Amino acid sequence: MSKLKYEIPTINKIDFAMASKYGSPLKSQRVRTEIDGLKISELVKEYGSPIFVFSQRQIEEKYNILYNAFSSRYPDVKFAWSYKTNYLNEICKIYHDLGSLSEVVSEFEYQKARALGVEGKDIIFNGPYKPKVDLKIAVQEGAKIHVDNLFELNDLHEIADELNIKIPVAIRINMDTGTYPQWSRFGFNYENGDAFEAIKHMYDTGKVYLVGIHSHIGTFILDTNAYRLATMKIMQLKEEVEKKFNSEIEYIDLGGGFASKSNLKGIYQSAEVVVPTADDYAEAITNTIYEFNKSKKLPKLYLETGRHLIDEAGYLLTSVCGHKRFPDGKKGYILDAGVNLLYTSTWYNFNIELDKRYEGDNEPSMLNGPLCMNIDVIEENLMLPPLDRGRVITISPVGAYNYTQAMQFIRYKPAVILIDKSGEVRYIKEVDDLATVNYKEV
Ligand SMILES: Cc1ncc(COP(=O)(O)O)c(C=O)c1O
Repeated sequence: MSKLKYEIPTINKIDFAMASKYGSPLKSQRVRTEIDGLKISELVKEYGSPIFVFSQRQIEEKYNILYNAFSSRYPDVKFAWSYKTNYLNEICKIYHDLGSLSEVVSEFEYQKARALGVEGKDIIFNGPYKPKVDLKIAVQEGAKIHVDNLFELNDLHEIADELNIKIPVAIRINMDTGTYPQWSRFGFNYENGDAFEAIKHMYDTGKVYLVGIHSHIGTFILDTNAYRLATMKIMQLKEEVEKKFNSEIEYIDLGGGFASKSNLKGIYQSAEVVVPTADDYAEAITNTIYEFNKSKKLPKLYLETGRHLIDEAGYLLTSVCGHKRFPDGKKGYILDAGVNLLYTSTWYNFNIELDKRYEGDNEPSMLNGPLCMNIDVIEENLMLPPLDRGRVITISPVGAYNYTQAMQFIRYKPAVILIDKSGEVRYIKEVDDLATVNYKEV
């Protein structure tokens, strides 16, 4: 029998999650042993830690549910993959193979889409800053340009002159949909007439013409009525523009914003209860188009859903590197992944699961990352059994916005693996090293 390690005895006041009629929190453990049938401990052994893991099967399942919800209600709907949500090449390719266009918000993302073989006409170019050189390339390649502001509109007028063409554009609008905070930074406001004035300016100048109206009302929107209002306002503006300028708006774009099954901080009911279904979102949008459509033709409908499609298909596996006892008696764990990899931990409470059941009573614990920064806290207070060095913890859902916003700060950005539909695992991004981090430094 191996000798047990000595640990200084302490007395802990357990001041939360007391035993109730549902049992004792001292024994309960949240455990996830596998992802798509593959043992988590084996994945870490083989591919390293920390590591992001994506499941192609889960990505495709979610996509099909949302796409069917819309396409079974509406004849002409297209999804455009929101690159910033996750722009790993292999992830984008999965969405393109499923039929998604690309939705990009910078020249970098635009170039990424082009490098993946997406044609200009299948790229929606959003964002508040599109450098003129890149805007011009996108125009020449036939991208769908969504105008954000008057400076950009002016650039487009100049580009139209330079190329001696009239440019088809869409306009991004913002509006009150009853959600807080209102996303009014992007595009032109609907209620105060800025949107209409900008469109009028387009027609007065005659260098661009409007083919689409777009609004992305926010993210993690739990109220489907917000989409009803957004669709109604877009349809009203469409009708007004078509009448006034005798033109046809080919498409409307409701952006993204559908929630994932993540737990937003401050919302105390579980995601299972508060997050609308794909059918709820689809019903709100498509019913409103039918209700307000006054022209003979229905507009094409684009959606730029990000978070809802990928969040739950992404996991972060991290290992315990050490533990200590803080002066207040709390157990502190040092993990090899921290806020450098979990940007969204500011807003969401993740599921934190052990790779198997461990012996011993739970005690109040804190999970810290590897950064030498006091803010590197993943979870301040949770009940955990004693975990030794090397124990693996799964953090989820982390598929949306975490990899793309992961910082190369203090530590290298980790590898990412994909479990494909046949259960095969492969790296889709290797761990960074000094050469990749330094390669442009002089
Ligand atoms: C213009 C635009 N479209 C789509 C998205 C994707 O949003 P979500 O991930 O909430 O679906 C965003 C994200 O902020 C966005 O800015």
